[in-house]
Amino acid sequence: MEDSGTERGLLRVILVFKNHSALERIRGKLESYFPNQCTIDSFYSLSQAIEKIEGSVNHYRLALIEQEGQGVVLLKAILGLLPGVVIGVVTENTELIAPLSTKDFTPEVLDPSDIESGLYRILKKSAALGRLPSPELREQEEFIAIGMESLSGLTPLKSDVYARIRKDHYVCVFKKGSILETGDLKKFIDSNRTEFHVKASEVKDSLTQVSARLDELANASEVSQAQANQEFVSTHSLLRDVVGQLGFTPEAQVIAKSCVNMALKVLGSKPKLSEILEDLKRKEGSYIPAHSFMVGNVACALAYRIGWSSSATFFKLSLAAFLHDISLKSEIYAKLRDISSAHEAGLENEEIKLIKLHPVQASEYSKQFAEIPSDVDIIISQHHERPSGDGFPRAMPGKLISPLSALFIMSQDLVDAVLENPETRFEEFFKDNAAKYEVGQFRKILGLILK
Ligand SMILES: [Fe+2]
Ligand SMILES: [Fe+2]
Repeated sequence: MEDSGTERGLLRVILVFKNHSALERIRGKLESYFPNQCTIDSFYSLSQAIEKIEGSVNHYRLALIEQEGQGVVLLKAILGLLPGVVIGVVTENTELIAPLSTKDFTPEVLDPSDIESGLYRILKKSAALGRLPSPELREQEEFIAIGMESLSGLTPLKSDVYARIRKDHYVCVFKKGSILETGDLKKFIDSNRTEFHVKASEVKDSLTQVSARLDELANASEVSQAQANQEFVSTHSLLRDVVGQLGFTPEAQVIAKSCVNMALKVLGSKPKLSEILEDLKRKEGSYIPAHSFMVGNVACALAYRIGWSSSATFFKLSLAAFLHDISLKSEIYAKLRDISSAHEAGLENEEIKLIKLHPVQASEYSKQFAEIPSDVDIIISQHHERPSGDGFPRAMPGKLISPLSALFIMSQDLVDAVLENPETRFEEFFKDNAAKYEVGQFRKILGLILK
């Protein structure tokens, strides 16, 4: 069985990444570069990979390995097991790698913040040297799709915007510098177009523009909740598009933080729950960005009500709200509250897997952020767990759910209830649902809310 890859002339690849989302992104890239040609073995740790390949015949031709920790012992061990293989090591610490080079072998180094470009470089170089087959480089790789909602936040345009007419064929519909007005998009909406494209190489300029605008708003004296809502929705939509295709780049991380800071500035340090709920009636934008904004605001208002009112807590809750559903493509997925209703809705197994794992994927994103508290990834990874212990992905017992996660989950429940019935009052909601929250941190928070 180990031989099958070579016999069929397939490109056999080994990927070792502790970061699951990076691993999936690279797997997707390789499969698009070598359609039906590559067999990929993936591992989440070097020791796991070493254990698997030790003693077996090496048929790999390409290995991409994320450096773990401060030392190179394991890295050295795995390189010793992969003679003749094209090796790429993902690390910021190039000096660490230098001693691993020999007369005949130098590992390629890939920058963790832009693994895709590094991969592309290695593939081109190895193909030119005849060490790997030539990758299929399609024109569509150069474009990324952005939705209508994202485009609304990019005016005046920092790059040309294209419509895809058919596969690999794009036509420029808005020139760089254009100011977009609602009417400009109408004919596209009427023709059922849901997305446009921009060149991936030009998206950075648009991100910088959004970042500058968010900082300006955060420093402005008068910004309304409605304006904050609108900015949040367009920024969230843009990042969801970009991150899904290019990963959570450092620019995207800066924007997510700026957007959260802007929203918190407008929210103020003493958010009143009843006023926030009143604001929810005036919903802006489609479900995923809109409810992310609402959940963040409601969570901060609930936190304030129960005396957890530090700015650090607000930041954690708000950033968690921004990120929690960012990996989901469809609002149907984001609206599901339990896996059994996903089965009942007739979703495919693959879709159910995506839903089940989105808290893990979003928490992986948050771990990539520099300088943010670890509570954020805990809130995100637990946001679909339930006090009753039948949530997902881990079906954690309610008493083990962290305090901030419990508060976040209760905020989501309240937002769901308000979206279903705008007349919902929070005191009644929590009284009516008290039995549900009679466990662990939920019980404590409930007591404080109703005090
Ligand atoms: Fe959500
Ligand atoms: Fe979710």
